[in-house]
Amino acid sequence: MSKSSKSSKSSKENQKNLEKKLGEVLGLERANQKAVEEMISMKLLKSDTKDKAKEIQDEANSHEEKLQKVISQLSEDSDIKLNQDTIKDIAKETEKKATKMMKTYLGDEPDTSEALEFLCLAEGGEVTHYEVLSSISKNFEIKELSSTVNSILKEEQDHLQSCLNLAKENAS
Ligand SMILES: [Fe+2]
Repeated sequence: MSKSSKSSKSSKENQKNLEKKLGEVLGLERANQKAVEEMISMKLLKSDTKDKAKEIQDEANSHEEKLQKVISQLSEDSDIKLNQDTIKDIAKETEKKATKMMKTYLGDEPDTSEALEFLCLAEGGEVTHYEVLSSISKNFEIKELSSTVNSILKEEQDHLQSCLNLAKENAS
């Protein structure tokens, strides 16, 4: 695995950006799973909506695993040597922020439409972060990284669409 410098940024800057963004998506995936869990326990998601949200939650779990795998591979790679501790800290902080955002958004007496709209926001946030991560990944010639990021990005785009459909169906 080798690193190339196609961008105007230094390779150190590129690496820092990569660690930051990997930490953020990892934290968002965790927060997302917790959000679905919490919404189900608050009985905000029922029947078909609940099943769809659980599917999304399962996929978020598999995204988390795929990310962990690529992060640990790249932390052992002598060329790139990603800093796992930095990524872990950023993931923790991002998860905390996202969970706090959910609590603020839902307030004291949330209803199903608010829950679904928050899920749309969360998925939209993930799409944005993976889009940026995909751009950052182009600075590195690492096949596992770009293929993992791009395959998750596709699924996140589907998640966003599914959540939009759920929110619209619920409202109509
Ligand atoms: Fe997602």
